[in-house]
Amino acid sequence: MDMTIRPRRLRGNELLRKMVRETRVDASSLIYPIFVKEGTGIREEIPTMPGQYRYSVDRMGEKLQSLLDAGVSSVMFFGIPDRKDEVGSGAYAEDGIVQKALRQAKRDFPGMYLITDVCMCEYTSHGHCGVLCGCAQTSAGDSAAPVFPQGYVDNDRTLELLAKTAVSHAKAGADMVAPSDMMDGRVAAIRAALDEEGYLNVPIMSYAVKYASAFYGPFRDAAGSAPAFGDRRSYQMDYHNSREGIKEALLDVEEGADIIMVKPAMSYLDMVAKIKEVTDVPIASYSVSGEYAMIKAGAQLGYIDEEKIICETAVSAFRAGCDLYLTYFAEEIARYIREGKIG
Ligand code: PBG
Repeated sequence: MDMTIRPRRLRGNELLRKMVRETRVDASSLIYPIFVKEGTGIREEIPTMPGQYRYSVDRMGEKLQSLLDAGVSSVMFFGIPDRKDEVGSGAYAEDGIVQKALRQAKRDFPGMYLITDVCMCEYTSHGHCGVLCGCAQTSAGDSAAPVFPQGYVDNDRTLELLAKTAVSHAKAGADMVAPSDMMDGRVAAIRAALDEEGYLNVPIMSYAVKYASAFYGPFRDAAGSAPAFGDRRSYQMDYHNSREGIKEALLDVEEGADIIMVKPAMSYLDMVAKIKEVTDVPIASYSVSGEYAMIKAGAQLGYIDEEKIICETAVSAFRAGCDLYLTYFAEEIARYIREGKIG
């Protein structure tokens, strides 16, 4: 057989395979999303996300410590308040759940990097990611007739509240803020508000390319944030579109986003690769609750090998080009890296 090029030559030896690897993963790229909840003594398992818990502030340290021990030092906070209202005031309250968690984590874990999800959906009684048009508490005194129907999320009024939320997170100790609401113009609004308060160096990681996705199902159970009516398709992106994702990413970079996120991960790695090409900022990929739940369920049924699937999905996100990877499997992945199962 006359064959000069034999690709298998580079695959015949484990050491050689490792030498020629194109993708290297490192625990410092991992971010763990954590759910914090009002109350004390709470560590309750999320039914649709086995192995994931909601923690009260007094108990979240258990998880933060085990993350640190595994080599994961970045977390993203999601808050579960005990009261919700039309304008999501718990999102920007000084003693809101995330604000309390931040103060405590800063005190007890000064070596950790604290990121916050900035959104209204966990705090609004209707479960949408912003205030609704015609909402009495925000439109009082407004003589203009509503342009949009009742129930439509009011973009520009929401911006003020998102900016307030981001500033309150920074005040409480957030190292970075991550708006996930998909309102237009929110990165600029948040940047201006942070700068005005002196938080010039608090970066914004924008969920710029966030699709309206059924993969968020388990999260909405975890956070009690499913919309009470309708869906999120008037603000999150249509998953048939890819050029629109580029438009969103470029807009956010222009508005001052320091990091661009693509979400979900697994079904959207094409977008990670594309956005990497057209921007010069780091790209984050968020492996969301539904991805976690599918792997857990498949493994529990014995249909797939959990450890191998976790390794393969994580590496595929990095191979697509992400620099940061948000995942509920952060601790496991850090361990697999250390054990040389991926690297
Ligand atoms: C808040 C938010 C959501 C997620 C992250 N931030 C839910 C949503 O948009 O409905 C989803 C995370 C996950 O599914 O793991 N808007």
